[in-house]
Amino acid sequence: MTKQIDLTDLDIYYGGFQAVADVTLSVPPRSVTAFIGPSGCGKSTVLRTINRMHEVTPGARVEGSVRLDGENIYGRDVDPVAVRRTIGMVFQRPNPFPTMSIRDNVVAGLKLQGMRNKSELNEVAEKSLRGANLWQEVKDRLDKPGGGLSGGQQQRLCIARAIAVSPDVLLMDEPCSALDPISTLAIEELITELKEQFTIIIVTHNMQQAARVSDRTAFFNLAGVGQPGQLVEIDDTEQIFSNPSQKSTEDYISGRFG
Ligand SMILES: Nc1ncnc2c1ncn2[C@@H]1O[C@H](COP(=O)(O)OP(=O)(O)O)[C@@H](O)[C@H]1O
Ligand SMILES: [Mg+2]
Repeated sequence: MTKQIDLTDLDIYYGGFQAVADVTLSVPPRSVTAFIGPSGCGKSTVLRTINRMHEVTPGARVEGSVRLDGENIYGRDVDPVAVRRTIGMVFQRPNPFPTMSIRDNVVAGLKLQGMRNKSELNEVAEKSLRGANLWQEVKDRLDKPGGGLSGGQQQRLCIARAIAVSPDVLLMDEPCSALDPISTLAIEELITELKEQFTIIIVTHNMQQAARVSDRTAFFNLAGVGQPGQLVEIDDTEQIFSNPSQKSTEDYISGRFG
């Protein structure tokens, strides 16, 4: 299932420090949106509010709304754990459980949810590994530890783990920045395939990557030192890279700062 994401008037704080101000943007289903912008402008912070991970940090809070197909995930009766289940996240450093088998890594979330049927678990493991373009490489060593895979394979294992629970949304925070160029290309191809099934947001510092994989691009920036990060503009990726409406976007994508 793939869902529309709407962020409205988001203000995001760490204690007394406002990290992000006034972000309003929408991400249509079956699409990839890239978040770009200089370090510290709040890209990761915005991403973590979309699956309610931000509030795990002591003192952290969010104002405004995050809607999934119209439903506010910060609603009074919404369970944050349930939200995190429907919104998968992939991080910069691949973080499989290193000593756990490849198969168990993939189905760890389902086991937590109480799925016990072995053939059912095996089925989901295979489907998810196929979905993450990893099956052919690991099908003969499913019982070997996840930590034994290469970095690129570990990242695809983490993607398999994220999609195994059938989320609506996939959030990726610089998923390729620790990977070699070949693994990066494999992940980029995978993202293009996965957008048929998931709404995807990817944070990236790589402008070529943003141009290659995303349909829409959001440029974030800092108005000044100590100021909160802001959304400068969001538009079709082609538009952002050929004819952005803001000068700061043009400066950033042409490498003049950041
Ligand atoms: N756990 C935290 N506690 C306090 N401040 C934080 C924390 N995480 C990030 N920040 C601050 O929030 C701002 C945005 O950070 P971040 O979202 O990581 O930016 P980006 O991902 O764009 O590099 C920065 O000023 C950063 O120092
Ligand atoms: Mg970041």
